[in-house]
Amino acid sequence: MKPLATSTPRTIVFVGATSGLGRASALQLAAAGHRLILVGRDARRGASLVQQISSRTPASPATRPPAFLAGDVSTRAGIEAVVSRIRDETDAVDTLVNNAGVMVPRRTLTAEGMELNFAVHHLAPFTMTALLLPLLARGAGRVVNTNSEGHRAPLFGAGDVRLDFDDLQSNRGYSTYLAYSRSKLANLLFTLEFHRRLPAFETVAVHPGMVRTRLVRSMHRPGFWLLSTATRWMLSSPAKGGEPLTELATAPAVRNGEYYNRSRPVAPSPHAHDREAAERLWQATEALRGPFPAKTARPRRDSSPPAGNPLPADNPLPTGPPV
Ligand SMILES: NC(=O)c1ccc[n+]([C@@H]2O[C@H](COP(=O)([O-])OP(=O)(O)OC[C@H]3O[C@@H](n4cnc5c(N)ncnc54)[C@H](OP(=O)(O)O)[C@@H]3O)[C@@H](O)[C@H]2O)c1
Repeated sequence: MKPLATSTPRTIVFVGATSGLGRASALQLAAAGHRLILVGRDARRGASLVQQISSRTPASPATRPPAFLAGDVSTRAGIEAVVSRIRDETDAVDTLVNNAGVMVPRRTLTAEGMELNFAVHHLAPFTMTALLLPLLARGAGRVVNTNSEGHRAPLFGAGDVRLDFDDLQSNRGYSTYLAYSRSKLANLLFTLEFHRRLPAFETVAVHPGMVRTRLVRSMHRPGFWLLSTATRWMLSSPAKGGEPLTELATAPAVRNGEYYNRSRPVAPSPHAHDREAAERLWQATEALRGPFPAKTARPRRDSSPPAGNPLPADNPLPTGPPV
């Protein structure tokens, strides 16, 4: 990893910052002097993260303290509430990190009736990006999506992963690892399609490695528990798992529209390059969440001065709803 202190200070919205590799990355980003707007469901863990950052990073006129916004991105209503509070915090965003993640043993529906993996790993990054697009256009305009090598094949499973367009919500049967993998493939299809449609923005997806986190906390099956306990020593620490996110969120340049395995751009599964599937998923997602903004201002790549400062006349924020 490159030294972190060299990048220009950024305003970063970090979704899924209260635990695991997101929390570790948030600490790294704060230590490097970036301004953080942190999002997670658990207010207590959020407050403890802000407290930890504040105790490690003394306040100075040059740095703004981190903000924590408690919110649930599994629903559109939850995302709208979070985005409205982000707009109170800043008028420009340099980097959006979509890192929230779940792994659930049984099919679980959100308050809006969406299957949870699909909602958190695919619909949430899509909607967060759509609603924040005007603010991203006023900043450096980068989106980092935490993906997984699981987009190729399910954990403990054989065979490659494809979307089932007749059953995006796992109505016909639920497998924990397949639902997780398909939702990560959907996120990767979205990442690449977003790049094709709006290439002026920077977007990447990243597999952070296999990391010791709380992701599997609701997996109480004896077989899973035995295997995960036996292999725990092979997993990276959260700090190590957070490094690729920290780097991709702040590096002066990234390989736009690419999938990274930690710090290395690699070819994703061939299904992630399926243009027809990407187009179909985009349409299905818009049918659920409303149209993605097709036209928007170009991001301010030089991003100098840092995002969050007064509006330039040539790139004003739209006044109406963004989607
Ligand atoms: N661990 C691995 O080996 C691994 C490998 C590949 C990819 N990943 C990916 O890495 C990302 C981070 O996972 P992790 O392993 O660090 O797991 P984790 O410790 O469980 O952290 C997950 C984070 O997502 C947040 N989150 C989950 N649902 C949310 C929701 N509905 N609204 C807002 N925030 C929500 C959690 O917030 P609260 O705690 O506040 O609920 C938490 O901050 C996930 O996208 C995961 O798929 C992990």
